Amino acid sequence: AGEGEEVITEIQDWNRYPGDGVDARPYGQPSQFEAHVVRKNVPWLTSDSISSVNFTPLHELDGIITPNGLCFERHHGGIAEIEPGAHRLMINGLVERPLVFTMADLRRFPRENRIYFLECAANSGMEWRGAQLNGCQFTHGMVHCVVYTGVRLRHLLEEAGVKTEGKWLLAEGADASAMTRSIPLEKALDDCMVAFAMNGEALRPEQGYPIRLVVPGWEGNMWIKWLRRLEVGDQPWHQREETSKYTDLLANGKARRHTWVMDVKSVITNPSPQAPITHGKGPMVLSGLAWSGNGAISRVDVSIDGGRNWKTARIDGPSLPMALHRFYYEFDWDGSELFLQSRAIDDKGFIQPTKEQLRAVRGPNSIYHNNGIQTWHVDGEGVVENVEIS
Ligand code: MTE
Ligand code: CO
Repeated sequence: AGEGEEVITEIQDWNRYPGDGVDARPYGQPSQFEAHVVRKNVPWLTSDSISSVNFTPLHELDGIITPNGLCFERHHGGIAEIEPGAHRLMINGLVERPLVFTMADLRRFPRENRIYFLECAANSGMEWRGAQLNGCQFTHGMVHCVVYTGVRLRHLLEEAGVKTEGKWLLAEGADASAMTRSIPLEKALDDCMVAFAMNGEALRPEQGYPIRLVVPGWEGNMWIKWLRRLEVGDQPWHQREETSKYTDLLANGKARRHTWVMDVKSVITNPSPQAPITHGKGPMVLSGLAWSGNGAISRVDVSIDGGRNWKTARIDGPSLPMALHRFYYEFDWDGSELFLQSRAIDDKGFIQPTKEQLRAVRGPNSIYHNNGIQTWHVDGEGVVENVEIS
């Protein structure tokens, strides 16, 4: 305060003239002054935008719910634009009664609402060997969290009647990539859903309209969008996305596979490279996100000195299993340089590792499943950079 007091003493246009009436914006959009809050891609990462990814602007968001228009997108064959009347979900394979559902059929099963995060296994993958991308949007933005409405997969499989030999499920998308993944039947019958709504409205085309699979806590690649077929089998299918991709090459030449659960992870979203400290020293609010595919987050610790000392952050808002958690840490910044870190602990007792600890176990060749602790360097001016310290 002090400068710019005309905004109080002078009557502004919006105070003087009436504005747009109702119906000027039949589907509401954010304020024109928020136009910079958008998904962004990293052009050099992929050779085209059809098989590519863009990232959630985590540094511009608060709370735990991601707005539909800002959920990161990962497509292997572009966005399928499906007319729901022309879409079917088929169940075949080791079932008593192969079935085909219309979208209207699906709405006659009991419905549930659940809040879950979805994280791509490749999130933070570019950071495996060292600090690379300058912003949490790019280092951690392959995650979103919405409330899904849909039906439990269990109900649909029970309708089809899984044969006793049935142990695996193949989920297939109707897009040009025909994305296919094997899922153990145990998980499918436990908490998987076929969702048709997110945050109260129909799924967005980018997120799999009219239906997508929800596989709580497990890697995003298995959450098949534009879901068209579920086949029951007695063993995994070893599709491309579960052999040459989404496996982790270890130092001994062997690869980890079936690494489905997204491990406990957190990141400070503010301050961060795209959200520097602009208010100078004094009281400040640090904030971030934490999540775990194993359950709920029980604690988040924050360090401002690169992991030498830790303080417990304050988790605020709902603490739900396999959902994003929002944390805050308020402190007085004395204007000196900071090395900011956060470390999450989940309710199964898993502790987020350092990147060094991760590399010691998995070697240098991995891309997927990097849940290592992120470090942001803050200089005396409040400028923030992605760094790694040892
Ligand atoms: N499903 C289909 N049919 N096609 C795809 O390309 N991409 C997968 C998964 N499901 C994909 C898909 C990957 S790798 C991820 S991380 C998530 O969808 C991304 O979901 P989102 O685009 O809603 O963020
Ligand atoms: Co993915």
